[in-house]
Amino acid sequence: MIRVFLCCLLFCPSLLTAQELRQSFLLEKDWRFSQGDVDKAASTTFDDSGWDQVTVPHDWAIYGPFDRVHDLQEVAVTQNGEKVATVKTGRTGGLPYVGVGWYRNTFDVDAFEKSQKRVVLKFDGAMSEARVYVNGQEVCFWPYGYNAFHCDVTDFINPSGKDNLVAVRLENRPQSSRWYPGAGLYRNVHVIVTDQVHVPVWGTFVTTPFVSDTLASVRLETNIEHADGKVVRVTTDIIDGEGKVVSSKDNAQKINYGQPFVQHLEVLDPNLWSPESPALYKAISRIFIDGKLLDSYETRFGIRDIKFVADRGFFLNGKHRKFQGVCNHHDLGPLGAAINVSALRYQLELLMDMGCDAIRTAHNMPAPELVELCDELGLMMMIEPFDEWEIAKCLNGYHRFFEDWAERDMVNMIRHFRNNPSVVMWSIGNEVPTQCSPEGYKVARFLQDICHREDPTRPVTCGMDQVSCVLENGFASMLDIPGFNYRVHRYGEAYAKLPQNLLLGAETTSTVSSRGVYKFPVEKKAEAVYADHQSSSYDLEHCSWSNLPDEDLAMADDHAWSLGQFVWTGFDYLGEPSPYDTDAWPNHSSMFGIIDLASIPKDRYYLYRSVWNKQSKTLHVLPHWTWAERVGEVTPVFVYTNYPSAELFINGKSQGVRRKTEETVQHRYRLMWTDVVYEPGELKVVAYDDNGKLAEEKIVRTAGKPHQIVLETPHKIIAADGKSLAYVRVKVLDKEGNLCPNEDALVRFSVTGAGQYRAAANGDPTCLDLFHEPKMHLFNGQLTAIVQAGDRPGDVQLEAKSKGLKSGKIFVKVE
Ligand code: GAL
Repeated sequence: MIRVFLCCLLFCPSLLTAQELRQSFLLEKDWRFSQGDVDKAASTTFDDSGWDQVTVPHDWAIYGPFDRVHDLQEVAVTQNGEKVATVKTGRTGGLPYVGVGWYRNTFDVDAFEKSQKRVVLKFDGAMSEARVYVNGQEVCFWPYGYNAFHCDVTDFINPSGKDNLVAVRLENRPQSSRWYPGAGLYRNVHVIVTDQVHVPVWGTFVTTPFVSDTLASVRLETNIEHADGKVVRVTTDIIDGEGKVVSSKDNAQKINYGQPFVQHLEVLDPNLWSPESPALYKAISRIFIDGKLLDSYETRFGIRDIKFVADRGFFLNGKHRKFQGVCNHHDLGPLGAAINVSALRYQLELLMDMGCDAIRTAHNMPAPELVELCDELGLMMMIEPFDEWEIAKCLNGYHRFFEDWAERDMVNMIRHFRNNPSVVMWSIGNEVPTQCSPEGYKVARFLQDICHREDPTRPVTCGMDQVSCVLENGFASMLDIPGFNYRVHRYGEAYAKLPQNLLLGAETTSTVSSRGVYKFPVEKKAEAVYADHQSSSYDLEHCSWSNLPDEDLAMADDHAWSLGQFVWTGFDYLGEPSPYDTDAWPNHSSMFGIIDLASIPKDRYYLYRSVWNKQSKTLHVLPHWTWAERVGEVTPVFVYTNYPSAELFINGKSQGVRRKTEETVQHRYRLMWTDVVYEPGELKVVAYDDNGKLAEEKIVRTAGKPHQIVLETPHKIIAADGKSLAYVRVKVLDKEGNLCPNEDALVRFSVTGAGQYRAAANGDPTCLDLFHEPKMHLFNGQLTAIVQAGDRPGDVQLEAKSKGLKSGKIFVKVE
């Protein structure tokens, strides 16, 4: 078994003793897995040699195959306004996530002495209804698949400390979700070994009661277990981003009634955390009793000040800003729900380049790796636990557990993430039907009170879609921050009525589009469906409950009291293929994403970028210009740009200059030439600066015959850790290098060298190609193949071949 020690023993000699006391390692390799229920699978004598060998994080359902029958649901989605039940296909991704799965592994605890040590298993998330057994005994049960939980298994460890069997039974019921939840041990499993006297999991709480440019006061609460009635000495050092100790404290006190140990430290001239400058600190605390060092605990945190000011909005470190956020589900497209840090990082980097500065984890607790990345890269977060409270949305949804588990789930979530500076707000739920029940406000109050008790520093919101109810019944007025889902036209009324004098677009827009697909005539449409089961990338199509990006952008631009928004969604996700969800197989993934399932930006990406990214210029033109069947037809051209004006030329003939106007909300954010007549050749956009001078040009040419496959990656060097990924864009170009925007050929992949093929995706919500197989059809000329590093340095080569096309090759360095 390979153990990954999280703390470096070699390079921190002064901490050596403490870290020998506290060990933490992941259980990643050598798991055995079996799908379906198995009798006596928790027993130590059970023979699992016939089971699959897997590495955790693992998602058993992502390997497919896709099928219409998986989790077929006959329901009326009432929150979408449906009154009559109909057959919903692909609602949870058309993947086999339903059923039971078993995992088994073993671990050793070095120098185990039962009376001296504590052993804890921590799961970052297990999908779902996890029953955990150690050496044949059930040690814990945690139903909610998205939450992290831990259990003390000391009493079940073998006296030798060796060969402890951990077995986990998971069960996903049909109709337990509205999207693809994933299946299995899809997040990390940790073993933590400490002294009896120790800081428990999530045992510290850092707050910064005073923050200014010159001084921050840091309050650290440290829980210490098995120290009741004893005098405990705690020394804490605060270390800055460069590794310098910037503040220290050494206190001793008697611990009574399990009360936490409180220390106050000062940081002079603090580096304040913000998206623009995500400065982090860590507090390293050492616990002594009778002069003996018993534990050492590290808490990473940031110093920043958040204020929500009535009528004025959100202030971070005294500076006003609006949330330029997106909602994301937890799946990583072709990787499924199995967590991967480099995949998450790539998602966040793409979003940040768009100017996005905030993420809402919809509608559940995130993986800790996501929150840590947001801390490090500089994205604010709104963390949300639930899509259901005690009233069902799904037959087998969380409502089954709400009464017994809601508080425990909230407590784990808040303690897990309350030291992360990226987290600026808690949401207690999404569009819960309870919002309209007469006493629904009591449930909301119960959850909001838990937030206030566990973390008095952050406000609480809730994504509400039933505007009339919540304005009347006291639900919205009771929340710290009213958060609305859609219905932007009612924000003004809500602002006027509600006492908070602030409003958050907790979930906005839900525009639908398919990358590279354009429909004619170009017009605004709700619920538009087409024979090819795609939606238009002119960004004018939405669902019956939703709207277009421009309206929410205008809301944020026009009103100080608007806190900004979280767009539904940053990335396409598996499941919820609206508007093709009612008996419309093979659609099985969403069309809401600004970026598609293959991590390729759709046109909409540039619309947001032109408004949100103030540091860089955006000049993006659509549609493509290869329309053999449209010669002589009106083919509108849109430009998304933050230049003040632009001129369009077709084969050198000017189509006029456009600048943004107030004519309609679309004219505020888009430059549009609506009467262009298509002729093959060259479409050129020339952007002018404030002085009317030529600043930038973009040219799109009619493509000739598909000729070659070209591979590109932003990940030219990846770590030799067996996990890092290179996302390789696969494009088919003509002889002159123009993208062939209608090409849908099958591409086959082979990988040689220091890595392996991991998956591919093309962003087509109707495509049933399996992600993990080394072949995939192009979707509108493009797709993404993902290569995974091995654990030794070297070069890895990806080759892509397709009949009749010149092959593409790319090298990625693994080091
Ligand atoms: C919202 C809901 C989301 C998603 C979205 C699609 O009402 O909160 O989870 O279903 O609609 O537009």
